[in-house]
Amino acid sequence: MGVMSVGEDRFLLPVYARQAIEPVSGHGVWLRTRDGREVLDLYGGHAVAALGYGHPRLLQALGAQAESLVFQSNAVELDVRVRAGERIAAFAPDGLDRALLVNSGAEANENALRIAFRATGRTKVVALEGGFHGRTAAAGAATWGSSKWYAFPQAPFPVDFVPVDDEDALARAVDDDTAALIVEPVQGVAGARDLAPAFVERCRALASERGAMLIFDEVQCGVGRVGQPFAAQHYGVTPDILTTAKGLGGGFPTGAVIIGGALADRFGVGDFGTTFGGGPLACAMIAAVLDAIVEEGLLQNVRAQSARIRETCVTGPVESIQGLGLLLGLRTTPPAKEVARALLEHDILVGGASDPHIVRILAPLVLADEHVDRLAAALEAIG
Ligand SMILES: Cc1ncc(COP(=O)(O)O)c(C=O)c1O
Repeated sequence: MGVMSVGEDRFLLPVYARQAIEPVSGHGVWLRTRDGREVLDLYGGHAVAALGYGHPRLLQALGAQAESLVFQSNAVELDVRVRAGERIAAFAPDGLDRALLVNSGAEANENALRIAFRATGRTKVVALEGGFHGRTAAAGAATWGSSKWYAFPQAPFPVDFVPVDDEDALARAVDDDTAALIVEPVQGVAGARDLAPAFVERCRALASERGAMLIFDEVQCGVGRVGQPFAAQHYGVTPDILTTAKGLGGGFPTGAVIIGGALADRFGVGDFGTTFGGGPLACAMIAAVLDAIVEEGLLQNVRAQSARIRETCVTGPVESIQGLGLLLGLRTTPPAKEVARALLEHDILVGGASDPHIVRILAPLVLADEHVDRLAAALEAIG
């Protein structure tokens, strides 16, 4: 099975590695390909398709909003924006109830870091080895290993990187110059690596003690993916700033920076801005996604399916499983790429990670028993 060429490289920059399928439509957790295959999508477009494909609630929200008002900027108040804000505040950890709506994960982190610099007047960031925060100037500077593609002549601020779960290194790095400590509670690109609870608690304690802002980057691990609204609730640790994106719009580009009222009140007109962030289509999708998660019991479903994967999928090439909820890393004995290729031959799509022995699962939160059973059977068959 070769990588299918659909002609994109004739017109677009050839910067993406591609899966060997060309989807033409989707329904539920399934993708239909141009050559007529039905492929089980356990990758969800990098964790974006939180409700899978063709979810009636999403289609209804998008259609109704498109018919009534396709766009107006932040220069006017919109009822749908109030609804999205309300849902985000209800979903976020207690105390984080004010959002800045943006368009992507990188933009959310860019603004989160700006908030931390403005609020503290300090100069330095502490981030984790393995962390991924996006490809813009500030988010990229805080991303581990970004020098390969960063390309800007210099980073906008110094960043100290700390090994994951190394509390002593963390205590040395977070100091009186630290504006922000930015962490993904479950590192996505690194391979669904869930941080030790004691380490996450230490992040909170050190940031508070030394006057730095704790930022949770929940662009990938947020929005129900770990079986709680956000990983913050899973760990029982509330950051000063929480960023999210990906699944938040269920496929519509959107992101949010979520903070508490006291911090929000320090900012005013002109401090942040975006044309498209918080547009009506994005807001309608945010409200629909969060309502579906709550009303359709998807957090419970994520926990149940995660447990089923852990129970049944340590088989064939899989040695062990890491991560939380439906952000899981299957550690494979052979290279993950080979396992992913073999799974695709069984019509199952999975992702990779920067760890070459991790197959990453970012399935839609509507995953059902039969889908997990198919994965287990395919792994068993691969051997
Ligand atoms: C944890 C995390 N933060 C930030 C980003 C960047 O998000 P975006 O690609 O929407 O800019 C990603 C994307 O993979 C991510 O996984």
